[in-house]
Amino acid sequence: YSLRQLNTFGIDARARAYLKVVSTADLGAVLADPVLAAMPRLVLGGGSNLLFTGDFDGLVLHMCMQGRGIAGATDSHTLVRAAAGENWHGLVQWTLAQGLGGLENLSLIPGTVGAAPIQNIGAYGTEIKDVFHSLTVFDMATGETRAMDAAACRFGYRDSVFKQSGGAGLVIVDVTFALPRAWRANLRYAELAQALDQAGVRDPDPQQVGDMVVAIRRRKLPDPAVIGNAGSFFKNPLVTGEHCARLLAAFPALVHHAQGDGGEKLAAGWLIDQCGWKGRRMGQAGVYEKQALVLVNHGGARGADVLALARAIQADVAERYGVALETEPVFV
Ligand code: EPU
Repeated sequence: YSLRQLNTFGIDARARAYLKVVSTADLGAVLADPVLAAMPRLVLGGGSNLLFTGDFDGLVLHMCMQGRGIAGATDSHTLVRAAAGENWHGLVQWTLAQGLGGLENLSLIPGTVGAAPIQNIGAYGTEIKDVFHSLTVFDMATGETRAMDAAACRFGYRDSVFKQSGGAGLVIVDVTFALPRAWRANLRYAELAQALDQAGVRDPDPQQVGDMVVAIRRRKLPDPAVIGNAGSFFKNPLVTGEHCARLLAAFPALVHHAQGDGGEKLAAGWLIDQCGWKGRRMGQAGVYEKQALVLVNHGGARGADVLALARAIQADVAERYGVALETEPVFV
């Protein structure tokens, strides 16, 4: 089964078997089928945060369950629940159309609702954990469904329990968000605040913030429908304050953000850019010309080509800055 249309990198990998999952019952049916149950499994949403480095000799569970709506309210928040297969940006736009703020900074992130908590998607000063209420998982080990709150999800920067061994066999089937009734714009990210200011927008409403995030992303990030990519290919590295101070002495323009615990977060895009990689190519894999953090498929690249490019970049950044860049997408 070709997976080419199911990953935004556009890698031409194949799977042994494929199942379009439209309900929790479909997951139960996999467990009940001895042949399917014995296969290695890959749970796939929008395929926008993974890299196929070869074929997948197992069963792809393509999460396509649909549905979204208001699920309740607390004194302070409106609860919105969406099924795992809903398109993320579609959900953001729907909440904004209902007059509900909270998700707008996460506009236009590719992928599905069910995939969003796995790497705790984040952009422009908001992470999913900031607007999260709970989610439902189907446990492939027991065939049971249960709810998990934020603590159980163990969210971190581009991380959660679902990327760790504790999340093995858990399939997210729906996610509930808590959107604040007393909404205030989150303009902590300087680039967003400046863009609104320059456009003459004062006291923006949630829709206006969302529209500006869309405009910024369109300007800087490649549209996967046009050029294959999986967003940021590397995480922004965390270093000690001491390491950062040493780097600053040698590279005064270094982009860094204090983390409050003495550590500093560096901009991987800046480090890669400074090493001269922006816009470069190795075969059909390349570094996006407007954002060095994003690796792209110029057409026909194989996973191995993208990996070779990533390894070369990591080696250069390690040599020049003594910083180990971690990759961000999941490798299959
Ligand atoms: N920079 C460069 N050259 C580049 C790219 C960036 O000098 O080629 C500099 C920028 O000028 C800026 C700094 O690096 O001073 C940071 O860049 P930017 O604000 O564009 O954000 P980022 O750190 O590159 C992160 C997230 C993005 C998210 C944006 C906005 C990670 C790994 N990436 O990127 O997330 O959209 O902030 O919040 O945390 C993703 O995860 O797929 C993703 C796109």
